[in-house]
Amino acid sequence: MAKAYGLDGKAIADEVIARVSADAAALRGRGVTPGLATVLVGADPASQSYVASKGKAAKACGFHSEQHTLAETTSEAELLALVEKLNRDPAIHGILVQLPLPKGIDSARVLEAIDPRKDVDGFHPINVGLLSIGEMDRALVPCTPAGSMIMLDKACAALGTTLAGKEAVVIGRSNIVGKPMAQLLLQRHCTVTLAHSRTHDLPAVARRADILVAAVGQPEMVRGDWVKPGAIVIDVGINRVAGQGVDAAGKPKTRLVGDVAYAEAAEVAGAITPVPGGVGRMTVAMLMANTLEAAKRSA
Ligand code: GUN
Repeated sequence: MAKAYGLDGKAIADEVIARVSADAAALRGRGVTPGLATVLVGADPASQSYVASKGKAAKACGFHSEQHTLAETTSEAELLALVEKLNRDPAIHGILVQLPLPKGIDSARVLEAIDPRKDVDGFHPINVGLLSIGEMDRALVPCTPAGSMIMLDKACAALGTTLAGKEAVVIGRSNIVGKPMAQLLLQRHCTVTLAHSRTHDLPAVARRADILVAAVGQPEMVRGDWVKPGAIVIDVGINRVAGQGVDAAGKPKTRLVGDVAYAEAAEVAGAITPVPGGVGRMTVAMLMANTLEAAKRSA
């Protein structure tokens, strides 16, 4: 039997969505309907499914929602022209360009073309800078780290503890998760280590962590003996691996696992997020929270 407190991503995300929906209704009463535009270039199945779930959540929150689907062969100039159009559209408060973009399109250039006030992914250098200097009233914060912080607060409440002064280790230094996660933990007064593929003796570094965040994209890399007893473990990984047997169509089954070997880690941790049903749920919810925030700021 696992000892760890299980963090329920769906339940926590539903709470966020309920609050956002109520606030959006109030904003509509003042004549402003939050608007989210998603942009998908190409036909990557995973991206298609992510973008569809974002559009669905936006509608459930009572937002105006539009999806722009462009061909794989779209030029950078055409994509930039669409971003410019959405920047100027007063009905749109949030713009999300789904990554990765096809080869030949400079992602950094596209992300920098988004009006920072509409950058609900929080990837624009202006928002990265505002987060790093702690200007949280003006920043838009990347969704996955923002959602992870809410789950950490839930874990702390359940365990009767707080974040201040804790040793936090984030594994993975991506711009989307690792770096902004480290900034958020630092703002909450954790002592933060940002570990990565070149870190010496990663298991020993991980074992120091009261708060362990895994965001590397390596299936079940973090083993049970990497976890300090009682630690809070946040698993950001979503990895598709081979499953057992075949499906109805005769195709080999697959399953989703995190960056953490869940069963082992749950024996040792104080609290842990599952995959699926953990942080992934929160990412979409926080995108809605960011879109609402952008709409409120514009009103
Ligand atoms: N691709 C993978 N994660 C993300 C994300 O958070 N935002 C966008 N726009 N694309 C992604």
